[in-house]
Amino acid sequence: MPTLIPSVPLADLAKTAAEGLRGAFGREVSLTAAAPGRVNLIGEHIDYCDGFVLPFALDRYVVIAAALNGGDAARIGSTEGETVTIPLAAPATPGQPKWANYVRGVIRGFQDRGIAIPGFDAWIVSTVPVGAGLSSSAALECATATLLEGLVGRQLPLRDKALLCQKAEHDFAGVPCGIMDQFASTFGMADRLVLIDCRSGEPTLVPFSNPNLTVVIANTMVHHELDDGGYAARRKNTEDGLAVIGKPSWRDVTPGEVEAAWDRLGDPVNRRARHVVGEIARTAAAARALEAGDFAALGPLMAASHDSLRDDFEVSCPELDTMVDIARRIGITGGVIGARMTGGGFGGSTVTLCDSGHAEAIAARLHADYRAATGVTPEIFASRPARGGHVVR
Ligand code: GLA
Repeated sequence: MPTLIPSVPLADLAKTAAEGLRGAFGREVSLTAAAPGRVNLIGEHIDYCDGFVLPFALDRYVVIAAALNGGDAARIGSTEGETVTIPLAAPATPGQPKWANYVRGVIRGFQDRGIAIPGFDAWIVSTVPVGAGLSSSAALECATATLLEGLVGRQLPLRDKALLCQKAEHDFAGVPCGIMDQFASTFGMADRLVLIDCRSGEPTLVPFSNPNLTVVIANTMVHHELDDGGYAARRKNTEDGLAVIGKPSWRDVTPGEVEAAWDRLGDPVNRRARHVVGEIARTAAAARALEAGDFAALGPLMAASHDSLRDDFEVSCPELDTMVDIARRIGITGGVIGARMTGGGFGGSTVTLCDSGHAEAIAARLHADYRAATGVTPEIFASRPARGGHVVR
């Protein structure tokens, strides 16, 4: 049996969602929207520091099938949880169950733009692992926004749509996230990385189609919650650090300046600062290496990124370190180009850049050795860059 979990074709997901809609509400689907999760190759915890990030949209999707219901409320169900009813006549506010807040937040974004939403029924299915650091919440937000665009017959500019989804995460889920996840889920394209300059807010699509390269994602199954304060605390550390250094943007700060301000910054802010400045430089270097087709150069950059997230930014965990260590032991002779944790951290997944010919064997080793070390069975899959949020025909 292969270790790598295959992806489910979008058409099959759309069919399952349509069946769910029919089963729950007795309605035939009139509109289906999909949006992907993301994996980040490098550039971690610097999207809220004006840095660069290098994610791509996964071929794992949240899919929503819907039909107008003639009323003034949305009724939304999924295979995962209870069905919710969201009134649409008044501005949406956060409530229970929590998962529906991503939907409520996006509805509110449309309402705040003066766009009235007609009553609809919807059924959600997803192949984006939840709590795995792969942006299942951004996928739900972006799929909802794409669905609402279709229902009201109006498309938002992509950037506006991504920012609307980010605001939903801030205001309705309580996570002060950066722009990476929603940008990747919105702007993603097949065979392209989404290089985001988080200072200008400009995404650049970088070709990534070499068949000899495979990106393997290993979910440690350690659940990750970004609304428990750890994420917000890190973000605050970086804001405090920048204030001490006295520059308007982390992009203008040099390693020498962090060094010079080390004692004034104090621990742990000085180490957080060292991560930010180092990670911005590493991500810029990775983008240059990709442009030059120098994939081998990504290995040391990914390794340094992981170590910095573990030691200076302190967002890794023993399970992530174990998974990365296994990949490191396999090494370049076994086809591993580079490995690191990906996403917000405190659990979640690692990303391993592999030689395609070795990908299945690498996955099998990660699976077996991780299980032996932790007693936990990981979930491992490969993904090529896929298309961002869109209406499924
Ligand atoms: C989460 C956030 C992103 C980003 C990453 C860390 O995924 O939503 O904005 O900050 O963590 O790189």
